[in-house]
Amino acid sequence: MSKTVALCVSGSIAAYKAVEVARLLGKAGVRVLPVFTESAAKFVGPVTFSGITGEPVRTSMWDASFPGEMHVKLAQDADVVAMVPATADLLARLAQGRADDLVTALALSARGPVLVAPSMHPRMWAHPSTTRNAATLRADGVRFVGPVDGPVASGETGMGRMSEPADIVSAILLAAEPGDLAGLSLLVTAGPTYEDIDPVRFLGNRSSGKMGFALAARAAARGAQVKLVAGPVAEATPPGVQRVDVRSAEEMRAAVMDARARVDVVIMSAAVADFRPEAVSASKLKKSDGAPALRLTQNPDILAELGQGRTGTAPFLVGFALETGADADVIAYAREKLVRKRVDLVVANHAAESLGKDENRIHLVDASGVETHGPVPKGALADVILTRVRGALRGAAPAPPAPSS
Ligand code: CTP
Repeated sequence: MSKTVALCVSGSIAAYKAVEVARLLGKAGVRVLPVFTESAAKFVGPVTFSGITGEPVRTSMWDASFPGEMHVKLAQDADVVAMVPATADLLARLAQGRADDLVTALALSARGPVLVAPSMHPRMWAHPSTTRNAATLRADGVRFVGPVDGPVASGETGMGRMSEPADIVSAILLAAEPGDLAGLSLLVTAGPTYEDIDPVRFLGNRSSGKMGFALAARAAARGAQVKLVAGPVAEATPPGVQRVDVRSAEEMRAAVMDARARVDVVIMSAAVADFRPEAVSASKLKKSDGAPALRLTQNPDILAELGQGRTGTAPFLVGFALETGADADVIAYAREKLVRKRVDLVVANHAAESLGKDENRIHLVDASGVETHGPVPKGALADVILTRVRGALRGAAPAPPAPSS
């Protein structure tokens, strides 16, 4: 069935890119209802939008020619309400739940997802009040696409540039499809952790975060609410995913523990460092003082803490086991982790086949047995794992789509 999107434009230089968003949505077969804030028309012309969409541009709630309440009628028609661009002022008004113009009243009456594509000067984005407003909106379930790091209107560069139209359109189309994981809330960890030795050195590992980011991307694409706790990695945040960046195992533990009660599934794909230096030197260790004897101490085992702290069956726990050795040994280690950490599913993989690679081969190990998949791209493996989780949560695991084993 064809979809309808209310495209709300607010007053930012990036408003010209909303024209391209409207055009691309139209090309994808989406009906676009353009809505302007009062200041949007100072940046772009309503005629451009009505010409591209074939729909009148709405700005005021007080249009006497419109039968009934305009915001309610638009909300009824729209599968997604998208704010492109969303200024700092619009984010603030949305976070307060105001309904003092058509755009905010429409957001309050939305029956489906609300999505924002922020656009502002980097100092405005970094301001504590904007940070607070964005956190409030995220907690309310508003989806963010961007902003991204790049050149902004002032000629400066920084975080605050609006995402590119194609990325915004993907996120809108994603939001318009309920997907088979709709209603599920997932917490995914990804990447390595860095354990500081001194202000310039750390202990780390070679995890790229690609598998965890693929899981987060595919879960969001399939309709789940996804929170991604990421160690230091170079991957871009997938559309519709709420990302929290951490550095050390202890920071990752705090972020996971904070979210665990609010999620249905935790997937620990991060390569959490097992050890950290016992003490972090406040100043740089000097070569002239000789090679230091590093004393290490054990990090908390986040997955084991989740498994052993569970009273019922929620959240559903998926662990990873990154090993070296023959298949039989890798599977035996995974079985041991399944029992010791009290988790529901372990994804076992081989370091040589996985680290930094775009493809991988995995063994899914649970109480009922072992299933091997791949080598295939990590996105396809993410789908296999997610289908398995969905099946387990529904009580009967349907056969996962086998990309090729
Ligand atoms: N894990 C964790 N916290 C740690 C270490 C690991 O939550 N401090 C999680 C990983 O995210 C992964 C799983 O536990 O999902 C297995 O990690 P792995 O390092 O393979 O296993 P270990 O428990 O560290 O066992 P070993 O190193 O002895 O193989």
